[in-house]
Amino acid sequence: MTAPRIGIIVGSLRAGSFNRQLGHAVRTLAGERFAFEDIDIGDLPLYDQDDDADFPAAGLRFKQQVEICDALLFITPEYNRSIPGVLKNAIDIGSRPGGSNSFAGKRAAVIGTSPGAHGTVSAQQHLRNVLAAVDVAVLPQPEIAIQYREGQIDADGAITDERLRKRLQLFLDRFGGWLAA
Ligand SMILES: Cc1cc2nc3c(=O)[nH]c(=O)nc-3n(C[C@H](O)[C@H](O)[C@H](O)COP(=O)(O)O)c2cc1C
Repeated sequence: MTAPRIGIIVGSLRAGSFNRQLGHAVRTLAGERFAFEDIDIGDLPLYDQDDDADFPAAGLRFKQQVEICDALLFITPEYNRSIPGVLKNAIDIGSRPGGSNSFAGKRAAVIGTSPGAHGTVSAQQHLRNVLAAVDVAVLPQPEIAIQYREGQIDADGAITDERLRKRLQLFLDRFGGWLAA
């Protein structure tokens, strides 16, 4: 069976992003089971409805990358109890111009990490609301909100925290089973 093509969308532009590290760790843990690819959102302009008739090239590139994936994995920080504006902007772009929603019918999973005690729970709930609006079905459980701690993941993407490794393994097993069903 061909490995499902999963587009990873990270909601942080920061070079040292903990969420990007988490993405690296998930890829490393999953091995060959999924064909992961990064979908960059850092070069997207701010969405402007006036540009719908002459859609920006970066927006078209983003939409095409979303469309060719079998499913999406969103890995997001929490900003002020919600998702970062850059991630919302990317979703708005992908959903437009009207009648050309690149997310329609996709499946996705949502995870995230932050140093805060509640580890992105609020952001993930907001993201689920937004994804419902663009016709994306999101894996219901397990919810994976991780409190970031130094040393959980090493420089090679190996998860050194055994409990976290087990949680992410369960998440990958559930995600894979749900996509195959
Ligand atoms: C504008 C802003 C708002 C933030 N709000 C929250 C928040 O509501 N909850 C939280 O847990 N962390 C919050 N943080 C801290 C982020 O979780 C932390 O900066 C984290 O490292 C961001 O993810 P990244 O490392 O992937 O960039 C906020 C950070 C910024 C810059």
